[in-house]
This record gives sequence, C-alpha cells and structure tokens, in this order.
Amino acid sequence: MSKKRILSGMRPTGRLHLGHLVGALENWVKLQNDYDCYFMVADWHALMSEYEDTRLLAENIIDNVIDWLSVGIDPTRSTIFVQSYVPQHLELAMIFGCLTPLGWLERCPTYKEQLREVKTRDLHTYAFLGYPVLQAADILVYKADSVPVGEDQLPHLELTREIARRFNSLYKVSLFQDPKAILTVTGRLLGLDGRKMSKSYNNTIALSDSQEEVTKKVMGMITDPKRIRRSDKGHPEVCNVFSYSGIFCPEQKDELESACRSAAIGCTECKKKLATAVNARLQPVSQQRRRWLEDKDKVKQILVEGNRKAREVAEATLQEVREAIGL
Ligand code: TRP
Ligand code: SF4
Repeated sequence: MSKKRILSGMRPTGRLHLGHLVGALENWVKLQNDYDCYFMVADWHALMSEYEDTRLLAENIIDNVIDWLSVGIDPTRSTIFVQSYVPQHLELAMIFGCLTPLGWLERCPTYKEQLREVKTRDLHTYAFLGYPVLQAADILVYKADSVPVGEDQLPHLELTREIARRFNSLYKVSLFQDPKAILTVTGRLLGLDGRKMSKSYNNTIALSDSQEEVTKKVMGMITDPKRIRRSDKGHPEVCNVFSYSGIFCPEQKDELESACRSAAIGCTECKKKLATAVNARLQPVSQQRRRWLEDKDKVKQILVEGNRKAREVAEATLQEVREAIGL
C-alpha cells in the first residue's frame, strides 16, 4: 500500500526557534517514517505580512531550510520545496477564490485576531483576507491526507475542508478528500519572558544561537516571583523555567519539582540544569547547521529537486481541476 501524504508549511519570517523545534519540526521528523511528506516554505504567506520590507525573505528561506535539514528532515525521503516556485498553488487559489464566499473569510477567527493584534504592519489587504484560500490550495493541490499543524491553524483547516466540499459539490466530482489535522502533542512553550513566544517580542532561543547565547538567555529567565530569597520555597507551577524543564529535561522533572518546593535547589542552579539540557538538545543541530552552511549549493540543489517534484504533483491535480470545471 502506498503511504499517505502529508503537507505542512512554515512562513520564512525569521530564524527558527525552540517553539518551532518542539511544536513542529520534531514531529515532522518522526512523520517521515510513516508518510510521504511535503514540507513547504510558505514564502507567499510570509509576503502577505512582510511585503513592506522583503530584504530578509530570501535569506530566511535558505536559513529555515538549513534548520529543517539540520534537525533531520531528510530530502531523500521527503519533498522540501518553496511555495513560490510552484505557481500551481496560485492557480488553484484563484479558482478557490471564485467559490469562497467573502463571509467565510471575514468570519475567520485568525483573520480577526491578526487585524486586531498586529499593529506594526497594515494587514488590511486583498491578499491577507485570502490567506486561508491560499492555504487550502497548498494542501489540496497535493491532495494531502493529513496536515500537521498547531492548534492555531485549525480554523484554516476547517475552511480548507469547506472549500474542498464546495468544489466537489459544484462540479459534481470527488476530486478532493477532507484533509485531517495532526496536532502536535508537546506542551506549548511560552517565550523566555512568559509571554507568547514570538521573534517580535525578542523572547526566543533560536536554533542557531550559540551555547553561550543559550546559557545567557536561560539564566535571564524570570522564575517564581514569590521566591525572592534562596531559602524561600518555590512554586514550580507558576515558573516558566519549570515548564521548559518539563520539555527539555523530563527525566529530572519530578526531582526538580520537589527540590523547588522544599527550597533544596536554588533558581540559579535550576536554570543551569535547564541551560545544559537545552544546549545538549541543540548540540547535534548546531553541528549539522555548520555542515550545511558550508554547502549551500547542496541546499539549493535540494530545493531545485523538491520544487520540480512538487510542481509535477501539483500540475497533475490542476489538470483534473481544469477538466472538472471545463476550462
Ligand atoms: N499558515 C501556516 C502558519 O502560519 C503556514 C502554512 C501555509 C501552512 N500553508 C500551509 C501550514 C499549509 C500547513 C499547511 O503556520
Ligand atoms: Fe523555577 Fe527552578 Fe526556581 Fe523553582 S527552582 S522557581 S522551578 S527556577
């Protein structure tokens, strides 16, 4: 039996960080064993928010792909490609745009939230309203069975299913199946300062940070605010360091918890343990990164090959789509 297919993507808006690692990439790496995987750099989706300043876009694309390769995304098993090199996504998005009612997009919770929260750029654009339409095209052009995403992306997946059903019903075909979400199970990592992790808050640890940077950032994390003196007993449940420890050194979790509650361990020591664990997790990634950085031509070659393969699959779908519509 042939493997089921997966499509997922990331927007190349900056360096990748620990949130991407535990929230997506480690999951992608595992999924490669069981699925035919398509991993996409969503540069058009990045352009929707970064259109005013595109200087870093090209650099981020290569750098993100280097991170993917460094954590273990394997180009001999998975197809790694860049969205804008597969124009069929846009053709399908245009067609989906014709049959997607405005109300579906205006009501989309992610859309409303971004317009409310993002103050540094103007997202009142034609393309940004259509963000989920392009995402539906990304997924359906490969007829992906499943889509590994974070919880925040569920509304987009729901819209993808509605668009697929509307297409099938309008043209009396069963071209598109409903794609399923594969939710990542790891607990969500907050930023170093306890707010949402985001490069715009400058509260992340990048996969490309040096050991010294990692240690410095961990040592600067805020702990239980009630623990002022070393002798004060701590409350791990309100401490962000403790939630990180649960993810990066789970084997020490119980011990750290009781040591914190009884003040047997101080915050400095506790953070040192976390820094060591994060550095240990990132060490093989850094090593691989150095290797790939010295061989950018190989990275580009991987993308040329991935783009070619993606175009081939996407074009086959488009031929069926054109035929279903009568174009
Ligand atoms: N919207 C996704 C995000 O911000 C990125 C993305 C674009 C995507 N196209 C996709 C994810 C298709 C999964 C499938 O994270
Ligand atoms: Fe947080 Fe560790 Fe300090 Fe407890 S000892 S408050 S878990 S940093």
